[in-house]
Amino acid sequence: MKPTVFITRKLPDERVEPLREKFNIRMWDSEDEAVPVDLLKKEAAEVDALWTMLTDTINSEMMDNAPNLKIIANMAVGFNNIDVQAAKEKGIIVTNTPDVLTETTADLAFALLLSTARKMTSSEKELRGGGWHSWTPMGFTGMDVNGTTLGIIGMGRIGEAVARRAKGFNMRVIYHNRNRKENAEVRADFVANLDDLLHEADHVLILAPLTEETEGMIGERELSLMKKTATLISASRGGIVDEVALYEALKNGTIWGAGLDVYKTEPVHVRHPLLTLPNVTAVPHIGSATVQTRHAMMKLNAQAIIDVLEDREPANRVG
Ligand code: DGY
Repeated sequence: MKPTVFITRKLPDERVEPLREKFNIRMWDSEDEAVPVDLLKKEAAEVDALWTMLTDTINSEMMDNAPNLKIIANMAVGFNNIDVQAAKEKGIIVTNTPDVLTETTADLAFALLLSTARKMTSSEKELRGGGWHSWTPMGFTGMDVNGTTLGIIGMGRIGEAVARRAKGFNMRVIYHNRNRKENAEVRADFVANLDDLLHEADHVLILAPLTEETEGMIGERELSLMKKTATLISASRGGIVDEVALYEALKNGTIWGAGLDVYKTEPVHVRHPLLTLPNVTAVPHIGSATVQTRHAMMKLNAQAIIDVLEDREPANRVG
């Protein structure tokens, strides 16, 4: 009997085809809506492989009831939606899709920085709403990006790719990370103490993964250490920033602006207080969202499933 694979979103045929030739494929029939948890549990209990999205939570209990499950291939670089430790204990392999999204996600993070600092979305909204009456000396003025200091929290592959872009803008790059990176390609200064980075940076960019250590890492105290003219760009996982504290800091002028690609709960509610603020630029978790990159991520996920179900070590094992 052929092994069975469950895919938790409707994907383009061409990306599923390589799997269809080898395995029985079941696929949730919606591109827009996440698979209901009950159905996911039922499928996990029956299949040999799960192809998951970052919107699916795979916990220990689900894995306990999945006797045939050999691999969870998560179509994202982040994998905080999966209990990797539990998977390890149960001998289930977990893979992710790194590298292919590095440059694309760095593009978006840098675009979000530019957009926030230069008020691109709020000024466009004014223009479209008829609020542009005249060029004025201080109208729509933002904050400089060129020549300023960028503080990156979480210096992985995407951080390094952003640092390269920042050099083209003549920026000084400092970073805070669990450990110092020995990277000859990008000149960036390690800052051991997060408080020092928050204090020094003109723009703070969060790219760290969401872990027990980073959850709620940026709260009221941390925001109060930032410059009043600083922006905070959040581009990895929403749970790292305390959104209530961020709202207060933006409203009270503790910091100048924020650019958000990720939120504690996604999709973020349209009436979320942060979305009422003109100094917030908000996009819907589009870091890796280009046609080319999403196809590359799908190819990696398909290959990981093929490798594991054919008893080979997959390329991007995280647990
Ligand atoms: C990831 O892959 O973890 C990104 O957040 C997706 O855009």
